[in-house]
Amino acid sequence: MTTRPVLDSPFLRACRGESVDHVPVWFMRQAGRSLPEYRALRGTGSILEAIADPDVAAEVTLQPVRRYGVDAAILFSDIVVPFHAIGFGVDVVPGRGPVVANPFRTSADLERLRDLTDADIAHVTDTVERVVQALGDTTPLIGFAGAPFTVASYLVEGAPTREFGVIKTLMHAEPDLYDALMNRVVDITVSFLRAQVAHGASALQLFDSWAGSLTRREYQRFAQPATERVLTALQDLDVPTILFGVGTGELLGDMAQCSSSVLGIDWHVDLDEGRRRANKPVQGNLDPARCLGGADLAVGAAREVLTRAGREAGHIFNLGHGVLPHTDPDVLAAVVDVVHHEGKAGVR
Ligand code: CP3
Repeated sequence: MTTRPVLDSPFLRACRGESVDHVPVWFMRQAGRSLPEYRALRGTGSILEAIADPDVAAEVTLQPVRRYGVDAAILFSDIVVPFHAIGFGVDVVPGRGPVVANPFRTSADLERLRDLTDADIAHVTDTVERVVQALGDTTPLIGFAGAPFTVASYLVEGAPTREFGVIKTLMHAEPDLYDALMNRVVDITVSFLRAQVAHGASALQLFDSWAGSLTRREYQRFAQPATERVLTALQDLDVPTILFGVGTGELLGDMAQCSSSVLGIDWHVDLDEGRRRANKPVQGNLDPARCLGGADLAVGAAREVLTRAGREAGHIFNLGHGVLPHTDPDVLAAVVDVVHHEGKAGVR
């Protein structure tokens, strides 16, 4: 049993369903475009170049912690980073998202998904070490990866999509090839996440952002098993895991069956109902759009979330999806303030 003080931080305590001094809060996509200090540092070019520079990536990770006093840092990285690192040929186009030069289409493409080595991601683990050193004993660092379905959707579609037509065709027309793809993605994802913990991350989040595009049956057959294999392969690390997706109201019961410590709830489900469906610690679920109309409106919306979260321990306050690019940082600062002062879930 280790006695690292960070284990007693409100964020990690809430992940374990324990009592807290204040309800912890952080924001998905807190490190990035909405911050002027990020835009000043970042310049133009692919985000993958910024991520490849540990000086820049560590500084961007720390910026929101300094500005907002959030209860956790999230590594400045991206869900496509390990696939870029093994040379799959993926880039992130500003304003658009991940684009793949030669998308995954046939069994020959499996060879392009080789195992991830420590050397491939030395820049990422270097960043993790610098951040953990700078954060000290009080603030944990969250590492992350895409969940296999969401990652595979980019590798197969080749570009952001609203329809998911290519990957849905693949899963139904060639289920064996789809399964083989998922197996490769699982292995790479597990290596990526374990490396982040080995270098100091204290929690891990799996972003299954596009799981909500699936029917419940499709989720159970084509997404959940691979997600669960990732989570199972992390269990011996003894760090909390958070499973998150968007538009997943219909899937929450199934997602709750996965062995993550915490379930992320987007804004489509009221948090009292979300807590019932999860039956484990939850993270969420302020609609990011409600932060676009000024501090008073956002604080009012945050209070609604806090009320629905109730008093039972195990709530990590967050948005229901990432910070929208045009969000005023002062609005998020006001949200942090109200959560810290008025949140009651598990407060001792
Ligand atoms: O602050 C944080 O949360 C940490 C950084 C982070 C980024 N991407 C940096 C980033 C995290 C957690 C992600 C995860 C991610 N990346 C997801 C899952 C979360 C979600 O939002 O659903 C997904 C689907 C991606 C893929 C991706 N990368 C998209 C869709 C985009 C947006 C493209 C755009 O510009 O609108 C990116 C680019 C990206 N990743 C940016 C940032 C800060 C913005 C672009 C930039 O600064 O160049």
